[in-house]
Amino acid sequence: MHFFGNILLLSSDLELYAKISGLLNKYEIVQQKFNPAGLMTDIYKFNPVVIIVDLDDYEYSVYNSISLSDADNYIPVLALYSKYKSAMQFIDTVMEYNMHKSEITVCLPNIIKIFADFKYKYSGIKQCYRINDLINSQTDNLLRRFIGNEFQYLESIDHILKCVFLNESQLVNRPKFILIASWNDDGTEVDIYDFDSGDMVKDKEAIELADSNRLFGVKREYENAFYMNPDKKEYSGMESCESIFDEELKQRLGEIINFAGYITTNTAILGVNYQDSVSQFDSGIIKELCINYNLIHNIYRQMNKVNSAFIYTVNALSRASEVNDDGTGMHIKRVNAYSRLIAESLGLDSIYTDTIGFSAQMHDVGKLSVPKNILTKPGMLTLDEFDIMKSHTLLGAKIIGDSKQLAMASEIAISHHEKFDGSGYPYKKVGEEIPLSGRIVAMADIYDALRTERAYKAAYGHSTAFDIITKGDGRVMPQHFDPQILEIFKKRNKDFCEIYEEVE
Ligand SMILES: [Fe+2]
Ligand SMILES: [Fe+2]
Repeated sequence: MHFFGNILLLSSDLELYAKISGLLNKYEIVQQKFNPAGLMTDIYKFNPVVIIVDLDDYEYSVYNSISLSDADNYIPVLALYSKYKSAMQFIDTVMEYNMHKSEITVCLPNIIKIFADFKYKYSGIKQCYRINDLINSQTDNLLRRFIGNEFQYLESIDHILKCVFLNESQLVNRPKFILIASWNDDGTEVDIYDFDSGDMVKDKEAIELADSNRLFGVKREYENAFYMNPDKKEYSGMESCESIFDEELKQRLGEIINFAGYITTNTAILGVNYQDSVSQFDSGIIKELCINYNLIHNIYRQMNKVNSAFIYTVNALSRASEVNDDGTGMHIKRVNAYSRLIAESLGLDSIYTDTIGFSAQMHDVGKLSVPKNILTKPGMLTLDEFDIMKSHTLLGAKIIGDSKQLAMASEIAISHHEKFDGSGYPYKKVGEEIPLSGRIVAMADIYDALRTERAYKAAYGHSTAFDIITKGDGRVMPQHFDPQILEIFKKRNKDFCEIYEEVE
């Protein structure tokens, strides 16, 4: 590992120069020899992170040229006084040469410790910076890709943890466990990620702690990064380490060797049992993780709230449209469920199945504009009445409008009465001209209508409904359906029956 920058050593005493040089070499520190003539040029060209001046060899001209420049405003100057017999003698020299207040004065033996510390801390800062940068760019990426339903926060968190503790394992001090605790009034849940195997394995079940005060006790008040090496009795940012681990957690984690963590409003992240002793850099990384986790989690929670409100509104509108057929709202719930089942059986992705799972219920929204006497007429409709009835498809799309989130609902409203053989309405579309969502909902809607009592018909049992769909009864015919969907219905008809019976 290399030191973070260059050292400028100013000494004309060759013996001392060799000595210090040897010392710096040991720490792989790059140095530059003193050249009084081009000193300032050297300083700017070499851009040292620290200037070491041999005070025993102190030349006024050298010192003055540094002091008169801006260099010592931003570059610390270490003055060595190894040969001074006493501090008094040293002070006299300092007074004589009017040293700048930003200077740090050390004697030779101390410099070893300073460099060792510097090197250690700097490599920590550098790692911490790189890792934090990585975490932030992952979150940034995530937020840029963030589109409504596709936001998978748990997967995002897993991805970030993997990036930090697996992909950058050369850079970080890796913990054996990462604990993510979230709490609300009901208690605390702790997810455990295990890195012991060299891979990341998340425990299937989160540990639930009923008493949400037990895990972090008093330390909940901290919004600080903290760490602890109990064996060395080293700790920072906390008062004691005992109460932080619940008994149940201790059992799962085994002996606690060290840990680093961060606690914020309703989340805490802890790294436990790191390979090496922990320091502020480990807790710094955890802090960054925790803040990002909290951000992602809160967006997710907020999104869920908005989404529930959206689904609630969609459902309320759909129920209004069905009030003449079925005041309970069960028909639309079931149509959602059959449609989702068909979409899943067709191997469509989760975005499609989720979308059809709430969009299907809006198929008859257009009935809001159809007069009640037509909707509830027990006998056959006249041709004119049937024309009005048919208009519920186009009116439905008009009511739904052109919201992007409701695009599939609108497509379904228009096309759920089209038939695969072209005998449907409103456009008499044939086969795959009919949108897939419409073909799916057509099956779902008809199965459920057959099972349900309506003003103009009695309720049929499952096997009658099955026979009507698969063999036809004159009104409903198998060629009305997409053959692939009909096949799914045949294969999974028991599941259709189950949905009907469950949501009755
Ligand atoms: Fe309809
Ligand atoms: Fe319906």
